Amino acid sequence: MGHMRGSARLVLCAACVAGVLAFAGCAPQAPSEGSRPDRSTPVDVEFAWSAEADCSMCHADEADSMTMAGYPAATHEAEGETCASCHADNAALASAHEGALPSSTMPKRLTKTKVDDTLCLACHDQEELAEKTAASTVLADSQGLVENPHALPETENHTAIACSDCHKMHSPETAAETAKAKCLSCHHENVFECNTCHEEM
Ligand code: HEC
Ligand code: HEC
Ligand code: HEC
Ligand code: HEC
Ligand code: HEC
Ligand code: HEC
Repeated sequence: MGHMRGSARLVLCAACVAGVLAFAGCAPQAPSEGSRPDRSTPVDVEFAWSAEADCSMCHADEADSMTMAGYPAATHEAEGETCASCHADNAALASAHEGALPSSTMPKRLTKTKVDDTLCLACHDQEELAEKTAASTVLADSQGLVENPHALPETENHTAIACSDCHKMHSPETAAETAKAKCLSCHHENVFECNTCHEEM
């Protein structure tokens, strides 16, 4: 009996030590490097935003998308890019991560930060893109009018259309599959020409 109890306690202790080590091992950078967490009590390590943090411990889905063929994020990983290459809105990211824990509910879309077109355009060239997709027939309306996704008519209503409206970085859906929906959100009858059926509303 005594022997059993002894080894049971040992197993329990080993598990608890392993748990503490595992947590400390992959915990994101604590606010101050110098202060070691108190190991006698379980601590929720407060996450302080840092572009070098291990994002994957909390954002498993997006981390997976960086390694799976067919995901645009993976193309960028192959080019040596990291999460922070695109998520560089640091002040907003710092504030969005206040109090974040691995056990928190992870977001399904961006609500507090932005990935600006200017960031994409630091590496991609709008004119080159327009040339590449000049023959694209993805954006065709019911009248047979075809538009180049990277050279839309420059109207006020189009300036707000962002790269990420059509290109989903963490989804296997291609722009060819998602782009048209963006147009239909305004061109509701699948006709690109406006003011033919009714005046502006
Ligand atoms: C400790 C867990 C944790 C770590 C580590 C972490 N995040 Fe987050 N992240 C969260 C949580 C929780 C949210 C949701 C915050 C909210 O909406 O209040 C979030 C939100 C986000 C968002 C969405 C912001 C928005 O616009 O709503 C982005 C983008 C993001 N994280 C990127 C990253 C990147 C990049 C890294 C690594 C450099 C990282 N996160 C590391 C937990 C974490
Ligand atoms: C090539 C640019 C790029 C890279 C690299 C990238 N993201 Fe994103 N991320 C975006 C864009 C753009 C969005 C907005 C939604 C979309 O387009 O999919 C987004 C959305 C998100 C969101 C909101 C939830 C969602 O899935 O839409 C989180 C969280 C996030 N990214 C975390 C990360 C993490 C963590 C990494 C690295 C493992 C990473 N991102 C790498 C561009 C990028
Ligand atoms: C740090 C540089 C960099 C940034 C920032 C960047 N890209 Fe890229 N992207 C590349 C490179 C390099 C490639 C591979 C060569 C190519 O296809 O142009 C690529 C490829 C792509 C592809 C083709 C994907 C595929 O799987 O074939 C798309 C779409 C794309 N990027 C969209 C975006 C969008 C949208 C953003 C902004 C949210 C963005 N990129 C930000 C460098 C970047
Ligand atoms: C209106 C939707 C839409 C917007 C906005 C958009 N794209 Fe695209 N993009 C597409 C479509 C659709 C394709 C694929 C065309 C095809 O296959 O016929 C594409 C293709 C691409 C490619 C691959 C080009 C190639 O053939 O090598 C890259 C890279 C890219 N886009 C980057 C961007 C960037 C960066 C932005 C923002 C400056 C952007 N796109 C804005 C719809 C869009
Ligand atoms: C936010 C709403 C909105 C979205 C999204 C939108 N459009 Fe438009 N578009 C308009 C309006 C409104 C007009 C009428 C011109 C104007 O006064 O701005 C227009 C005009 C046009 C025209 C005619 C321009 C001309 O010279 O008469 C074309 C072609 C067009 N859009 C194509 C597209 C395509 C393709 C997409 C999807 C990538 C798209 N639009 C997305 C609102 C939108
Ligand atoms: C092919 C014909 C056609 C074109 C082109 C068209 N519409 Fe419409 N639109 C309609 C019809 C039909 C209705 C319904 C009218 C009614 O019920 O009185 C409507 C209704 C609307 C309404 C009112 C919706 C509501 O629920 O009250 C808005 C707003 C609107 N259109 C915006 C636009 C915009 C913006 C464009 C150009 C981007 C556009 N429409 C182009 C046919 C068209």
